[in-house]
Amino acid sequence: MEMNVLVVDDDEIIIRSCEAVLSAEGFKVTGVTSSKDAMALIDERVFDLVITDLIMPTIDGFELIKWINENHQYTRVIAMTGYSSKAVLRDAIALDIVDFLPKPFFPHTLTEAVKKAVSTPPKVPMPTQDVETYDKGKLKAILQKYKKRPGALIMVLQEAQELIGYLPASVQKIIAKTMKIPVSEVHAVVSFYSYFTMKPMGKYNVRVCQGTACYVKRADEILAKLKDTMGINEGEITHDSLFSLETVRCIGACGLAPVVLVGTDTFGGVDPTKANEILKDYH
Ligand code: FES
Repeated sequence: MEMNVLVVDDDEIIIRSCEAVLSAEGFKVTGVTSSKDAMALIDERVFDLVITDLIMPTIDGFELIKWINENHQYTRVIAMTGYSSKAVLRDAIALDIVDFLPKPFFPHTLTEAVKKAVSTPPKVPMPTQDVETYDKGKLKAILQKYKKRPGALIMVLQEAQELIGYLPASVQKIIAKTMKIPVSEVHAVVSFYSYFTMKPMGKYNVRVCQGTACYVKRADEILAKLKDTMGINEGEITHDSLFSLETVRCIGACGLAPVVLVGTDTFGGVDPTKANEILKDYH
């Protein structure tokens, strides 16, 4: 499978050199000369690896790496710099990068570092789908259907999330532009409703109700059992991207408490000791 590598350096010669070396090894390389452009691209596409210079004007490489760690934890990072003092090295390593390349470096040093980096498992699983691969025609059709209907934002967001699996910032921007409303308004709605998510989800999103009616019927034990079975915590995705796990506050089915949702399926009266059995039929 072709690996996507983003090279960020304010020196175009470095970008071209990395492109030449890594393209010859079968990597798909994209280069940008600023952290700002890098952030915009990383919001739009999934990159297996980012190689970034540390010392750059406006937003430096340290800030870029912090932003990646907060927003795209699955992205591996190699830092490079011509100012490789002990302090710089220490600060870069503290940001949990996979490797550090002092400039200038030999082509084979770059190739070896990149091959090693992409064989390192990402901190969280890579998203199964990103804004490059979803059906843009279908999103356009959803927007065409609703764009002249006032108050249709929630319906647009619901259908967009069903199509893509989540609502990344780039999709929120497209929706805001087409619906002629501020991005901040779209973002506020996405953040307010727990149904919407800005993070990639597993094929089946498992939601465990922790509302009062469910909690008094041992919903906390159900959550613990499911965490243990899946080997993940809330907000995470299993390594095969089959399941993601979330908690919710009352889904309005208190008569069925305790309740677990797997995708669109509802399970009521769940026995905490057998909660793991719910997942058996999902592949
Ligand atoms: S508290 Fe769980 S459904 Fe209401």
